[in-house]
Amino acid sequence: SRRIKLALIPGDGIGPEVVAEAVKVLDAVTATEDVTFEKSTFSLGAARFLETGDVLPDDELEAIASHDAILLGAVGGVPGDPRLAGANIERGLLLKLRFTLDHYVNLRPSVLFPGVPSPLANPGEVDFVVVREGTEGPYVGNGGAIRAGTPHEVANEVSVNTAYGVERVVRFAFETAKSRPRKKLTLVHKTNVLVFSGSLWQRTVNAVAVEYPEVTVDYLHVDAATIFLVTNPGMFDVIVTDNLFGDILTDLAAAISGGIGLAASGNINPGGRFPSMFEPVHGSAPDIAGKQLADPTAAILSVALLLDHLGFPDAAQRVRAAVTADIAARADTPSRRRTTDVGDAIVAHLHDKGLE
Ligand code: NAD
Ligand code: IPM
Ligand code: MN
Repeated sequence: SRRIKLALIPGDGIGPEVVAEAVKVLDAVTATEDVTFEKSTFSLGAARFLETGDVLPDDELEAIASHDAILLGAVGGVPGDPRLAGANIERGLLLKLRFTLDHYVNLRPSVLFPGVPSPLANPGEVDFVVVREGTEGPYVGNGGAIRAGTPHEVANEVSVNTAYGVERVVRFAFETAKSRPRKKLTLVHKTNVLVFSGSLWQRTVNAVAVEYPEVTVDYLHVDAATIFLVTNPGMFDVIVTDNLFGDILTDLAAAISGGIGLAASGNINPGGRFPSMFEPVHGSAPDIAGKQLADPTAAILSVALLLDHLGFPDAAQRVRAAVTADIAARADTPSRRRTTDVGDAIVAHLHDKGLE
């Protein structure tokens, strides 16, 4: 029997609420599999920091790194809280995990499930995946301010793009495109302005494309990509893009495909040298935290990505089928369900369909 060490980082706000439901579904769907998930919980996030001053102590980072996978809810306090200035939780915890564990692929699928209302009048079929670079770009924090606080302040944010870093994520994106029916890859960048990084990304895509003759390659500037995500999302299959463009595009992608409460993600270390980390795209949602108002579906679909990654594709498919069934039933239950009700309903669909 396989033993999998799973690190749980519930985090702040709605994080613990949605992780509880995700774990409920994970336990139900793997009950019949020959596997045991040994879970350890790490209490990290803004709340811990405000209480103890700890962001991510080295020994806890090491302990997390010794697991096979990580499930994270969300971290971060109330935007604008002066005690959290400097983005120490986002940078010192979330990005530190992504960087240290070399999560160079940030995988964010967007699927409009049948029956889900989209804000678009004619969404058509929406089924694409954003392969967002996860360890470079402006996120490295390689900037600085000069003469800060004076009228002569200069604030620089430097976007770092390495040939090594771009090539490995572009290769992953081509492999992803090759495995999908439509086999189409769209590079999204801003090569008309960001000429140095743009040139590197475009040249890398052109060079790798030679090895994937079956994949159709396309290019869009990021501003135009936001138009087409709204007017013709069906044109997208796999999007490959840098860390910041990918962050912005995936919130838009979530919005058009049923909302942020459904958007799942995986921070993947493809070689498997470090544990990959699965989390909903959304944040800690302080505006609805503690009220059982959060939709846990994004966290539950992140469990499906986790199961795929760990080599349980059938269990992953069963989670998606149960979510699909739950979403189809939502139209008939107009009253807002509590977070636990959604988790329970998805588990019930696993049982109904003999999916567990
Ligand atoms: P957010 O995603 O937390 O919230 C944006 C809006 O979406 C809010 O109105 C919220 O109520 C709603 N929402 C989010 N998740 C939902 C769900 N599951 N069900 C229903 N509604 C949901 O973004 P924000 O307000 O910009 O950020 C809040 C905090 O979270 C900040 O500290 C931010 O840095 C952090 N954050 C963390 C992560 C992460 O941990 N991966 C991601 C994004 C933001
Ligand atoms: C996300 C979040 C993070 C990001 C923040 C909280 C650092 O917005 O996971 O999309 O920008 O990557
Ligand atoms: Mn984001």
